[in-house]
Amino acid sequence: MFDENKVRDIIGEFTVSADELKEIAAAFRHDLKRGLNNPDDSSLRMLKSYVGLPTGKEKGEYIALDFGGTNVRVLKIRLEGAGKFTEIKKVAKPLIVDGVYDYIGADSSAEEMFDFLAGLIDEVLDGDRETKFLLGHTFSFPSEQTDLNNAKLIIWTKEFATPGVEGKVVNDLLKDALLRAGVTNVEPVAVINDTVAVLLSAAYKNPDTYIGSIYATGHNTCYLEPYAETGDVPMILNLESGGYMKLAPNRFDVKYDEMSEKPGEQRLEKMVSGRYMGELFGLALNDILNTDKKYSFTSVDMSNIILDESDELTEASQIIERGTGEKLSVDELKAIKDLAAAIVVRSARLVTASFVGIIWQLEGKIPAKFMHIAVDGSVYEKMPLVKENINRALSEILGENAANVDTVLDNGGSGLGAAIAAAMSKA
Ligand code: BGC
Repeated sequence: MFDENKVRDIIGEFTVSADELKEIAAAFRHDLKRGLNNPDDSSLRMLKSYVGLPTGKEKGEYIALDFGGTNVRVLKIRLEGAGKFTEIKKVAKPLIVDGVYDYIGADSSAEEMFDFLAGLIDEVLDGDRETKFLLGHTFSFPSEQTDLNNAKLIIWTKEFATPGVEGKVVNDLLKDALLRAGVTNVEPVAVINDTVAVLLSAAYKNPDTYIGSIYATGHNTCYLEPYAETGDVPMILNLESGGYMKLAPNRFDVKYDEMSEKPGEQRLEKMVSGRYMGELFGLALNDILNTDKKYSFTSVDMSNIILDESDELTEASQIIERGTGEKLSVDELKAIKDLAAAIVVRSARLVTASFVGIIWQLEGKIPAKFMHIAVDGSVYEKMPLVKENINRALSEILGENAANVDTVLDNGGSGLGAAIAAAMSKA
């Protein structure tokens, strides 16, 4: 009943050739250019962040709220200038604990969610109700801004479903919650996307950084648009590249999209990010094992399968048996391991093609010849095959010009970026 040829065919459906890769990069660049003229003509939202790059000299103590995945972090950070900083205090808590509380499900409420955030801010203050602090807020969802502090959530992504936040100005919700908590010495002054935070954080330490990306539960990229043609002040644009639509999804992508919280949205993200790779893997296994049982694999499962180098593929075997109830032979497991690898490799190649679309947009318009792309997130940091396939794809598309660009991990840049944004709000 297990047909290895079928698995090979499915792997083919997840394979992106070098030619396709170049076409994807060019199409992404095209969509970006259209979006610059008029975001309505593009599948990229091209959201203005109302902030440029930091000088590296920003100083002072700030509160940073980092909200965007299942874990929320609040930090007190001291910026020391010269690209230096100290984390003075940090609290981190999940937004959902099974059976205990859930602030992201459809049964939760905006008030409960923001009261939880205000509680964490209070914890970081350690009883200090006197010292005035500016707060930078990394809010990692598509938001429409009219200035650095005024950001309205357009739509939840990453399967968040809390009612009463979409369409609202997020820092108004936060301010109300701080008041309810009796915290009056913290003033929210800046809301930025996590990609923007990563770019600010990396550029604070290293000037030749123009692109910031998150490659984790969700996926998205921002860059500094130089506005070379119009002479406008350079500004970071949050592309919301996870919403890029001009790709050819395979049947598993289509099927997952239909089952997801927001069908039709975030098509690139659903093909590449950590929240979704396990879902695609599960749907492919459904096809291979001829069943429509709901499987729930995660990208960590896929990582462990790919990393299993044992002769009997013991770990992979256990993961597959736990997830499907089926005990597979070693040859079958080898094919399944190749499938997991193919999904991860496709993800890295698609993400890279989008980076190259942006690199082409920046070419000749920035002073540096060499540029860094700052990336944060568990998939980039930990998933096997990702970094090497990003580098391979950069070389396939850019040839020897690939030597003029690299990707660098900016670990935990979300918190630091929020503090920098708070500091820049004063400028
Ligand atoms: C959101 C982006 C965010 C990305 C990474 C996506 O789902 O739409 O705003 O940058 O996740 O957290």
